Amino acid sequence: MNVSILGIPMDLGAGRRGVDMGPSALRNAHLATRLRELGHTVEDLGDIAVALPETLDKHRETGLVFLEPIIDACRDAVGRVAALPDGTFPLTLGGDHSVSMGTVTGNALRGQPQGVRSGLIWVDAHTDYNTPQSSPSGNIHGMPVAHLTGLGDSKLTGLGGGWHMRPEDIVMIGIRSVDQRERALMQEAGILAYTMKEVDQLGITRILDETLERLGGLERLHVSFDADALDPSICPGVGTPVPGGLTYREGHLLMELLSESGRVTSMDIVEVNPILDIHNQTAEVMVGMAASLLGQRIL
Ligand code: ARG
Ligand code: MN
Ligand code: MN
Ligand code: MN
Repeated sequence: MNVSILGIPMDLGAGRRGVDMGPSALRNAHLATRLRELGHTVEDLGDIAVALPETLDKHRETGLVFLEPIIDACRDAVGRVAALPDGTFPLTLGGDHSVSMGTVTGNALRGQPQGVRSGLIWVDAHTDYNTPQSSPSGNIHGMPVAHLTGLGDSKLTGLGGGWHMRPEDIVMIGIRSVDQRERALMQEAGILAYTMKEVDQLGITRILDETLERLGGLERLHVSFDADALDPSICPGVGTPVPGGLTYREGHLLMELLSESGRVTSMDIVEVNPILDIHNQTAEVMVGMAASLLGQRIL
């Protein structure tokens, strides 16, 4: 497979600094080499240019912290990803999770200016389904999924021209932190979320069977993997850690089963914060997850 790596070194959507170093941390953990060892042709396209928070005013008054520079970065991401040739696998590196408004949209628009109906597997401790009105923090990394479905600020919902995700084409896995008003929005939208309770009760295998069946007819499937989905004991380098996460093996099994399905067409790795880490452990774990999704097997 041809894998195209694109970094989006942005932390404007997060409540603290550091996930802008995620792409460097992942490259430093030998991402490209690991994927080449699996037989892939890997091209690193470098990073999108993103404004530094220290050079900007905060724009807090809108309830959307750093809205304008985030729109700029996401718009660039849409353009860069949408322009990639068919048959390449875009592997996009955040950055905070607001980058996914750009990457998910760009992948849906690839080769098709109106956008293709696409599935989204959101692996995360959080549902990231806040709107500017429901968000307790104003941090845009808590809002990407709502905006992808057309809910929220019109400039962010307009990134794909008229294209939006359908709520029924989204499945979330690993959820264990949802804000109060965000929960109501999730229920109204009817998005299927496997919380950690279902992970414990049903197990990853059954969840994946159900997920792939639900997303059955869709020819494009994007995996958006927030490092905080995994337990903080294995991924301590994340801005918003929540106890009780996926184990190391649950994460790999999820990726191995998705790989075997042969259905995933693109992936993000987001929210890696090496400032909060020692020995770059979180990036190394996440490189392993990408390798499992792209064909690594134990035997
Ligand atoms: N729900 C919280 C908020 O909206 C936290 C979101 C964390 N999101 C993330 N991508 N890490 O502020
Ligand atoms: Mn997230
Ligand atoms: Mn998260
Ligand atoms: Mn468990």
